[in-house]
Amino acid sequence: MAFLADSLSRVKPSPTIAATTKAAELKAEGRDIIGLGAGEPDFDTPDHIKEAAKAAMDAGKTKYTPADGIPELKKAICAKMKRDNDLDYKPNQVSVGTGGKQILYNALVATLNPGDEVLIPAPYWVSYPDMVLLAGGEPRFIEAPLETGFKITAEQLDAAITPKTKWFIFNSPSNPTGAGYTRDELKALTDVLMKHPHVWVMTDDMYEHIVYAPFEFVTPAQVEPGLYDRTLTCNGVSKAYAMTGWRIGYAAGPVELINAMRKVQSQSTSNPSSISQWAALAALEGPQDYIDTSRVAFQRRRDLVVSMLNDAQGITCPTPEGAFYVYPNIAGCIGKTAPSGKLIKTDEDFTLELLEAEGVSAVFGAAFGLSPNFRVSYATSDENLKEACTRIQRFCAKLV
Ligand SMILES: Cc1ncc(COP(=O)(O)O)c(C=O)c1O
Repeated sequence: MAFLADSLSRVKPSPTIAATTKAAELKAEGRDIIGLGAGEPDFDTPDHIKEAAKAAMDAGKTKYTPADGIPELKKAICAKMKRDNDLDYKPNQVSVGTGGKQILYNALVATLNPGDEVLIPAPYWVSYPDMVLLAGGEPRFIEAPLETGFKITAEQLDAAITPKTKWFIFNSPSNPTGAGYTRDELKALTDVLMKHPHVWVMTDDMYEHIVYAPFEFVTPAQVEPGLYDRTLTCNGVSKAYAMTGWRIGYAAGPVELINAMRKVQSQSTSNPSSISQWAALAALEGPQDYIDTSRVAFQRRRDLVVSMLNDAQGITCPTPEGAFYVYPNIAGCIGKTAPSGKLIKTDEDFTLELLEAEGVSAVFGAAFGLSPNFRVSYATSDENLKEACTRIQRFCAKLV
């Protein structure tokens, strides 16, 4: 009898974490490494949020809370959903968990039976397929290529739906591409979903606030109110308020689903950190100026990176609508030989050789389900980005 669970053999460790770890090892050996792998803002959590956490500790808010969140935070999440998304939710329709990651995982564990299919546009955030597999479901991918701006079409969605489809996972702006669906593009998808009442929508709105004008963020239940009863709108404070380490994510949706998610959470981790919940409350209810300040910096960096990468031989880099990633295509580099003498056959070869030759660490596209590409996170200083892009240009110029 095998000791480890069979379900674990279907799952791979996170490649983004592997890339970050490899870069940290080389750095520790004294190499000059620039990391473009981070999936988190490089800014500090705003002071008023930290103060709220300190005040919570001083006030003794250090005990267990209700398993899926304190009522104050749930109320603030309802207000946020109304303010930003024009969606009406009551506190009993809200679940708070340890990061957006736990929320998504709870929902999958609470709903998937063997054979249930989950539609995931590719490229995708690395955790979606593995979370589906861990929860016993079957990920099914819909390719979103460079030619359509890394977005799927209504026809593709329609063709991918089967009687076994339980969820459609939607992520806009996307990790890893930064691609964002306009209202019209999203409406075309929601029109398809209206024809298939057995399919539920799990929308991951984590990058809602990191979007660049003229693009405007919209979420499925807002664009198509007819989907409200089968949509789980997921979000969190990690990216919007530079709070990745605090581990607070949340979702709003139908009561039956929220109750099922609470059951999963109450028998696994119980409540997310009480102190972090009070900090998240301050983030949602307090001044929102951090969002604009960080957006200005991210937009400047996006423009810098897109322009410098498009000047690198063999690279095509579209301009994304949001998030803090670009997903350049490297078709022009495949089949060439690196300075080490190694032939670059895949995007993984490309990122490995880039790290060896120039000390720039990024994640290869195969990890996100679309090749040949790589993901650059521009959540690092302008100085680092200029130097990293100069090194990438030099690396590409040396490929023969
Ligand atoms: C698309 C997407 N969803 C969810 C998450 C998870 O966020 P959290 O840190 O709140 O668990 C991430 C984090 O990288 C992400 O990129």
